[in-house]
Amino acid sequence: MITPKHLLPLGLLASVTAVVWSFATIELRAHGDVTPQAVDTSGLPSLGEKWLEENPWRDPNGEYWEAALEVGSSAYNQNCARCHGLGAVSGGLAPDLRKLEANMSGDEWYLERFRNGYTQNGITKMPGFGELLGQEAAWAIRTYTETRPGENAMEPHLDTLQGHRDALNEHVASGKSAESNAEQLTTVKDSLVEIAGKLETASGAPKADSAPRRAAAALDGSDAGVAAAAEILTIGLPAAK
Ligand code: HEC
Repeated sequence: MITPKHLLPLGLLASVTAVVWSFATIELRAHGDVTPQAVDTSGLPSLGEKWLEENPWRDPNGEYWEAALEVGSSAYNQNCARCHGLGAVSGGLAPDLRKLEANMSGDEWYLERFRNGYTQNGITKMPGFGELLGQEAAWAIRTYTETRPGENAMEPHLDTLQGHRDALNEHVASGKSAESNAEQLTTVKDSLVEIAGKLETASGAPKADSAPRRAAAALDGSDAGVAAAAEILTIGLPAAK
């Protein structure tokens, strides 16, 4: 006997399929705020299929430390920040990832959660990201979170840093060239490097990444560099003087 399915004209069958598909899409959208956001890891080398046991980009002198930070910063803020806090500063909703020890046992725990997420009594408290984002994104995010300066690490230097921020913004507003103001800019850069070097991580990672570090790196003697440094400090520091 011919089943009803075989009687369906092909066109109708196609539209039934389309309806089923659009339900699937709605279903995905309903969970939209936990749908992992794709991460562009093209600036990083491929690590292969097998998951490593240790962060390959932990060494701040390594070739890919900067690139991992850049990828990790954006991947973190797109995928993790809504629960773990902007800039990895936890608001209490989920653990503070800055504190997870930067060593192999910390890495093991990190991967366990990253790959599998966390479900309690049938409720997904954290989605698993492993298969969707892959290990390049995983280690880039890990590099970003473990290099955040510890709680209040910047506090003792805030006055100085805000002074530098204002000086850089004044320089930009004046329209002067970087060259004509080289002496002051060098003094600011040296001070930023010194402060950046004093900031410590809460994870024990060897070097903290911070607004002063990135601003100092941006000050490369060019006009664009001064503008970039001014912007990094303007965004990266509390506004009040
Ligand atoms: C929907 C909310 C949510 C999102 C999004 C989320 N997490 Fe989580 N995460 C949690 C919660 C809740 C826990 C605590 C689970 C537990 O009790 O172990 C957790 C725990 C962790 C832990 C264990 C930390 C510790 O100290 O025990 C790690 C590592 C982690 N998350 C990494 C990430 C990363 C990386 C991302 C982004 C790729 C992410 N999480 C996205 C909610 C989230």
